[in-house]
Amino acid sequence: MSVPARVRARAAWLRAELHEHAYRYYVLDAPTISDAEYDRLLRELRDLEAQYPELVTPDSPTQRVGAPPAAAFAPVRHRAPMLSLANAFDDAELEAWARRVRTALGEAPVAFVCELKIDGAAVSLTYVDGVFVRGATRGDGEQGEDVTANLRTIRSIPLRLRGAAPPLVEVRGEVYLPRSAFEATNADREARGEPRFANPRNAAAGSLRQLDPQVTAARPLDIFVYGLGAAEGLALASHWETLAWLRAAGFRTSPHARRCTSLEEVKAFVRHWTAARATLDYDTDGVVVKVDATAQQAELGTTAQAPRWAIAYKFPAEQAVTRLVDITVSVGRTGALTPTAVLEPVRVSGVTVTSATLHNEDEVRRKDVRIGDWVVVQRAGEVIPEVVRPLPERRTGAERVFVMPDRCPVCQTPVERPEDEAVTRCPNLACPAQLHLRLVHFASRDAMNIEGLGEKLIAQLLDRGLVRDPADLYQLTAADLLTLDRMGEKLAANLLEAIAASKRTTLARLLYALGIRHVGAHVAERLAEQFGTLQALADAPFEAIRDTPGIGPTIAGSVHSFFRQEVNRRLLDRLLAAGVAPEAPQAAPAPGPLAGTQVVFTGTLARWTRSQAEALARAAGATTTDSVTKKTTYVVAGASPGSKLEKARRLGVRVLTEDEFARLVGA
Ligand code: IVH
Repeated sequence: MSVPARVRARAAWLRAELHEHAYRYYVLDAPTISDAEYDRLLRELRDLEAQYPELVTPDSPTQRVGAPPAAAFAPVRHRAPMLSLANAFDDAELEAWARRVRTALGEAPVAFVCELKIDGAAVSLTYVDGVFVRGATRGDGEQGEDVTANLRTIRSIPLRLRGAAPPLVEVRGEVYLPRSAFEATNADREARGEPRFANPRNAAAGSLRQLDPQVTAARPLDIFVYGLGAAEGLALASHWETLAWLRAAGFRTSPHARRCTSLEEVKAFVRHWTAARATLDYDTDGVVVKVDATAQQAELGTTAQAPRWAIAYKFPAEQAVTRLVDITVSVGRTGALTPTAVLEPVRVSGVTVTSATLHNEDEVRRKDVRIGDWVVVQRAGEVIPEVVRPLPERRTGAERVFVMPDRCPVCQTPVERPEDEAVTRCPNLACPAQLHLRLVHFASRDAMNIEGLGEKLIAQLLDRGLVRDPADLYQLTAADLLTLDRMGEKLAANLLEAIAASKRTTLARLLYALGIRHVGAHVAERLAEQFGTLQALADAPFEAIRDTPGIGPTIAGSVHSFFRQEVNRRLLDRLLAAGVAPEAPQAAPAPGPLAGTQVVFTGTLARWTRSQAEALARAAGATTTDSVTKKTTYVVAGASPGSKLEKARRLGVRVLTEDEFARLVGA
């Protein structure tokens, strides 16, 4: 059905109107029409697009939400790296930096731009011919994750640039969750049985990495942009001009940026915001000072990690004074007993704090905090609030010294504290506290993602003895579930369906779900990539795990010993028997130079251990095996090779020296 010209024109007009009003509302904070009027225009466009789907364009205002949940985020290579910043912690360090800058620039006059350093999640937004095509997290600075669908839900990110569009531009900024939305977000997570975010920054980063854009859309994330990555067709003589260009293109930039022509002005800006930041509705952790002139920036250049033309002057952590009314002890997923301070509610940097971690027994003793003390608490950047020190001058004598219980507060098993460790642990793996948290973790979104199975339901399942470990979840029947409070047929059926659906998962999710110490989502992905199957990882020697890129001896030790324990092996067998089927990770996106080949190593290699060499081969797309067969593509022979070399010759398999192999894989 062809679209009548009249309809096409109307749709174009509606899109332009909607873009304009969204910009006025979300970026300028100065709407000129009512919400109802905006909704009416949006509805009209949506109706037209429903009738004529060919009218839908990727930059249509109707396309903010609606992408289906993803299974994983694709990697994105940044065209220009996303660097980090060097820090200054006091005026002297700022002055030292400014001296280096001036010396390098041959004493030419230097102007600076001061900006607040927003404490959120860094993103890169790519626009091609003015259209938002890709948004990515920072990742390791070279490569991040494609979170385009989630970023589209942020209304102050333009889907199309205003004005003349350059062919290509990467816009850099910080996504944050306003403080005022932080507590509501946590309340919402608790209601879903998900763990609370420790701070607004984790909430922003976590919301960006939601697989379901609907979840992201429900969080009022916002963004301040502060610079460019790669850019074609833009000639901007200074950072100050860059900010002006970004604003004109429709982005939200901080209203507090300021151009300073002396270091005294810079210091005054820092002093002002050290105090005034408490009034902002978002977390900041410092002031970024940038050399303004683009030519001077280029002259100064960058180190491998950070530009020499910018520095982050870090704010001291914000503190407040309150009463410590109790010290409770909780048992974590790994059995660690953690003393937690229960505080009289107090606002610290815009967030109400009611508890703070005391880490462990030694920490309580070292700080000499007592129950009933007045204490100084602080929120420092990314950490959970902590108790800094007591105010002994305010003691009345009624304060009590804390003693660590000698039994687990949950299962009453005598606790253990290895001599060389600060952590006291409950050794009982079946301790309900550990079990509860292990199961909550197992079912959580980034793990097995069993929708609807939250903390409260899990507590009930444990209380009734219906579940003793994660594998038991897969044995539950509708009859079992119907014995629970507030459980109806429909809900039970949904839950069983969600449990069944979780059987099809990825190896990385399953590994993460198992709650192996030190194995977070990221490490789990690395392990899954490296080993491909659960069996291969379970059978892997310690060295092979340790030589996995990004994994060190501590993680490797933890993973290796996990798979050596009989109970864990049994648990895995039962999960697999119940039909849990972890998929191997997808083959590497770009086929490596050895894609489709089979490689065998023999003899002693000069540059690598055997497992490092195997890892290189696999990273290049090969599979590696131990024995030479007709299917073997290459045998890589080191010093004093064994019978494998003879066999390779007999079978006519190509033999490579270590150097030839190195060249092939580009190592
Ligand atoms: S400039 C090449 N400006 O701080 C310089 N960064 O360590 C790139 N950040 O996570 C950074 N506010 O996202 C710059 N006004 C600002 C910033 C800012 C927050 C974050 C940035 C990154 C970290 C850099």
